[in-house]
Amino acid sequence: MDRSGVEAVKARINISDIVRRYVDLKPVSGRWMGACPFHQETKPSMSVNDEEGFFYCFGCQASGDVIDFYGRINGLEFRESLEQLAAEAGIELSNVPRDPHAAERKARKQKLIDMHLESSDWFQRNLRMAAGNHAMKYLTNRGMTQEMIEKFGLGYSPDDWHGLDHFLKTKGRTSEEGVEAGLLSKNDKGNIYDRFRGRLIFPIQNLSGRVIAFGGRIITDGEPKYLNSSDTPIYKKGDHLYGLSLARSTMTRSKRAILTEGYMDVISLHQFGYTDSCGVLGTALTPDQVKRLTGFCSRVDLVFDGDGAGRKAALKSSRMILLQGVACKVVLMPDGEDVDSLLQAKGAEGFEACMSAAPDGLDFCMTTLRDKFAPREIIAWAKSFLSDLSDASLKAYYLPRLAGGLGLSEADFRRDAGAMSPSRNTQQQPQRRQPVKQRQQAGIAVGKDDTDDRYFLRFPIQYPDYVSHLAERGFDRILRTDWAKALWEKLVNTQPGHITSLLNEQEKGFYYRCREEMRSNILSGRDLLDEWNHICNKITFGQDKMNKRQLTEAIRQAQQNGDTHRAMELLALKESRRRDDEQH
Ligand code: UTP
Ligand code: MN
Repeated sequence: MDRSGVEAVKARINISDIVRRYVDLKPVSGRWMGACPFHQETKPSMSVNDEEGFFYCFGCQASGDVIDFYGRINGLEFRESLEQLAAEAGIELSNVPRDPHAAERKARKQKLIDMHLESSDWFQRNLRMAAGNHAMKYLTNRGMTQEMIEKFGLGYSPDDWHGLDHFLKTKGRTSEEGVEAGLLSKNDKGNIYDRFRGRLIFPIQNLSGRVIAFGGRIITDGEPKYLNSSDTPIYKKGDHLYGLSLARSTMTRSKRAILTEGYMDVISLHQFGYTDSCGVLGTALTPDQVKRLTGFCSRVDLVFDGDGAGRKAALKSSRMILLQGVACKVVLMPDGEDVDSLLQAKGAEGFEACMSAAPDGLDFCMTTLRDKFAPREIIAWAKSFLSDLSDASLKAYYLPRLAGGLGLSEADFRRDAGAMSPSRNTQQQPQRRQPVKQRQQAGIAVGKDDTDDRYFLRFPIQYPDYVSHLAERGFDRILRTDWAKALWEKLVNTQPGHITSLLNEQEKGFYYRCREEMRSNILSGRDLLDEWNHICNKITFGQDKMNKRQLTEAIRQAQQNGDTHRAMELLALKESRRRDDEQH
């Protein structure tokens, strides 16, 4: 990470100035408050702190610095938002080049994007020419309007082995470049030819509306029905959602996303007025995609086929969405229909009927589990769902509902879920970069140790003046979880003002939350002293779990190290235990 760049941006830009572009902010006792744009909220639940440069939402716990906020609201990667903010603030990031090949790579990507734009124009023109007549007829027969054909930039690739290849040459592109862009294919003999031939073309756009890939549907019979671009430096399957760039502005207003499976489904939804719709495109929904969506809205309505495969996909997808604390609904299509065919046959009314009958995501999961799973599987599902939830209040919200809905005793369930081994989480996480929430889950232990560690760490985060005193007393001894120990290390080794750039996502979320909580509850005088004493006691008596022999050994060691203070404490502990034993 370009740390000096990050610090420079944060120093130069007021976070409230950026947030105010998206949210109305009102001053409330020395900070700014506004409605959080990351979840469904009309009340001011988000606090923006200019002094320390962070935002924190009391509703959905979204938090971060100005770069996080800007990235999240615009669906940008960290590096992109850093660059854009730096450009705004007139900060030269290239002073500290992170990657000597960055400029070269950027130019290469730009070339790929340019080639996609050229190709997309060419495909669109072909649809309007004689060669594209039957493709155009096909679309109109399926009920698609000219307006939608325009809006989604649909096109046609002629049934020709070198149509696009030749066209790109007129733009000064070589065939090899066409292959690199995934627009042309190369066979074993080294011959290069058009990848898309005789297909209806659906351009896939990134969030800024640039075409980065294509899907092509065969019009006559043939395989495969849809051919998609392969992965390239500008397109990775599973990262993008079809139609999101067109749907995002409605989504931010409606606070809802309709998520469906196919190209035609997305277009029909838009045609019938559901302009907050987008599609997953032939792959299973990924956590990255969910993260992208939740940047715009707070509920995701899943529209899937009603068959076995559709239900299975809906179960997996709704789980993923619920884990992020986002509401969802599961709309299953009647047998043999998809949303496109339903809309074309029955119009918006037909779709509304399905929507109003659709269960809430959690209910859907529970019904499906009860109907299709064995008791053992149901319990395993519920446990893993709870253990994948990082957020304690979300867990508290889901637990009684799950227990009730699955016919489990809440108390048993609570105990079992609390006893889950945290390491399972870590193993389950895929290697790829994950959304904030999931990364939080990855590192965070579940259960009492975790809760205790959070409680203890809150103090040094809120009162950094005490960090060194706590360190001297052996604060690290009371921490049980790895993430807490790691965060404590950073607190000890960093100047308070510089810590946030060293924190990972999970740590940042926790750190900002503590800082924010402190604003509403600053301890002083007696209370602060009580808290301090309480923690010091915990450090001492945290050794409670030691047995007699370990205790004797610890006393011996403390004496050997010349730590008389600690030796006395431990002796006192040993003494009090002896007295307890005598009384019983
Ligand atoms: P479907 O087979 O349900 O097609 O695949 P569809 O979307 O209803 O298409 P129409 O209505 O027959 O034209 C759903 C989605 O799965 C992906 C596509 O994104 C498709 O829209 N898919 C399907 C592929 O990528 N390749 C295929 O061969 C088939
Ligand atoms: Mn279809």
